[in-house]
Amino acid sequence: MKTEIIEGDSLKLVETLPENSVDLIICDGPYGVTNNSWDKISNIQEYNFELIKKFSRILKFGGALYLFGKENCIDFIDYRPFLQLNRKIIWYQPSRLSQGRRNFTNNYDLICYFSKFRAKTFNLDAIRVPQLVELDQRLRCENVPSVRGGKFHKTKFHPEGKNPGDVWGDIKQLTYRSKELLEKSLLRTIQKPEKLIERIVKASSNEGDFVIDPFAGVGTSAVVCKKLNRNFLGFEINAAFVEIIKKRLQFI
Ligand SMILES: C[S@@+](CC[C@H](N)C(=O)[O-])C[C@H]1O[C@@H](n2cnc3c(N)ncnc32)[C@H](O)[C@@H]1O
Repeated sequence: MKTEIIEGDSLKLVETLPENSVDLIICDGPYGVTNNSWDKISNIQEYNFELIKKFSRILKFGGALYLFGKENCIDFIDYRPFLQLNRKIIWYQPSRLSQGRRNFTNNYDLICYFSKFRAKTFNLDAIRVPQLVELDQRLRCENVPSVRGGKFHKTKFHPEGKNPGDVWGDIKQLTYRSKELLEKSLLRTIQKPEKLIERIVKASSNEGDFVIDPFAGVGTSAVVCKKLNRNFLGFEINAAFVEIIKKRLQFI
């Protein structure tokens, strides 16, 4: 399996890639909300529209693109000529300390799950999560009929767990105490937990597939893809981060 990192601007580098060649694209790029120089985007929706246009070209038919952002990151843009939106996933982070005084506090990031036409891969069995019900409550539920195709059936729980759904509260953002955190300065705006990226990679790609992360940061998706036997190409504009990724990959 190949893992490659290229230093540079992903919006330019994407032009060098052939069309219809990538199975999965993970875009954890600018949110337009922090003081990082790369995050100072005057209109995040326009930026994301450009991103969707440019990266949908290299996506295979049936390939998936996940776009991270805040709640308004794709508002008022018409992405439909390029990609189909399958789900807006809420990555719920209840532990945030900041409390709004004039508005309800924002407690989530949005992960927009797109595909180029109908998604060809959705590996539900690889991403099942435990049923959040106690055993006796579960037995009671199993005796309650559910309706499928207009007919009553016994409610059945899958022994391997359920679909994680579109509110992901089970994966926590990294904290100062996380063993996974490479440096404190990377907290919140940069480094994502491996589990989060793992769910996306497992759901929307298979072993041997080609995954791209145009905003590779400190290499979470590079690490996850190497562990899960996916071919990987990352773009990252910050040379210091590229060095961190290369070191990180040596230990995988
Ligand atoms: C939110 S961080 C990604 C973090 C990554 N998911 C991780 O877990 O390490 C966004 C990254 O995108 C990079 N970046 C921003 N604009 C870029 C561009 N046009 N081309 C390449 N990289 C860019 C930033 O330097 C930053 O490292």
